[in-house]
Amino acid sequence: MPTPHTLKAVIPVAGLGTRFLPATKALPKEMLPVVDKPVIQYVVEEAVNSGLTDILMITGRNKNALENHFDRNFELEVKLEEKGDEMRLERVTRSTDLADIHYVRQGDPKGLGHAVLKARAHVGQQPFALLLGDDIIDAAEDLLTRMLTLNATTGSCVVALMEVPEDELSAYGVVRVEPTESPDVVRVTELVEKPAAGEAPSNLAIVGRYVLAPEIFDILEHQAPGRGGEIQLTDALQTLAAQSESPGVLGIVYRGSRHDTGDRLAYLKAVVEMALERGDLGPAFGAWLDDFVDARRGRG
Ligand code: G1P
Repeated sequence: MPTPHTLKAVIPVAGLGTRFLPATKALPKEMLPVVDKPVIQYVVEEAVNSGLTDILMITGRNKNALENHFDRNFELEVKLEEKGDEMRLERVTRSTDLADIHYVRQGDPKGLGHAVLKARAHVGQQPFALLLGDDIIDAAEDLLTRMLTLNATTGSCVVALMEVPEDELSAYGVVRVEPTESPDVVRVTELVEKPAAGEAPSNLAIVGRYVLAPEIFDILEHQAPGRGGEIQLTDALQTLAAQSESPGVLGIVYRGSRHDTGDRLAYLKAVVEMALERGDLGPAFGAWLDDFVDARRGRG
């Protein structure tokens, strides 16, 4: 059984971030700050907290800021050292020391399945975790660790699922499931990428965390373009789920908090919620927010 820390994490970050223009014209969407940390750092920290310190980012054009963020910044470090500002120095070096980060470019943006296929040479013949670079999952929930354990004990691919309101299902990969003996674990029997209204097989959507078996690469290699003319990971997982000889696909139904920071409204909520949770800023921000809401109600 592979131990989690020998496994690799893959984070696709080649998307254009068009939902967030103009902020993302020159800045990768994964570099947008939530309070004082870019979104991508939360995602890398989540992988590291699950024991995955070898991380491959699938990047695209315009993503230099990402690489710089995880690299040293000597000028800043020297300045802060001279000042004896240990606290800020730690903030600067933390992202550098977090993990072993590798990069490969996606080239043509042919979809998530195509991005995942780019990880093949680095990952080899082992299961691996896939974390979508703009989803923030509550660190306290240990979702990825549970998914890695489920993969290690069953050999199945594992997807994270959340119940989603009917009118939002068409933005996701949506699954049909059967129950298993564990209440939060389901067997995935069918997957549909971004179903049209009324055609979703359930209200359970795939959110941006996966643990994938290496067999997925062979399937992706031959996967025909699907929704939007792109090579869809969801379609490859459907092929795997339908193979009677494979251990198939399991889902963990996640009920904690998740923020899709690529969406403007969800991003604003993420900033407010996560600022309130912070020990340093939360109390003062919360007091201001209460007054602000009271004043708004008074006006209304
Ligand atoms: C991707 C996947 C989709 C999944 C979603 C989760 O879509 O293709 O199956 O439900 O991520 O965020 P995207 O959001 O990249 O369009």
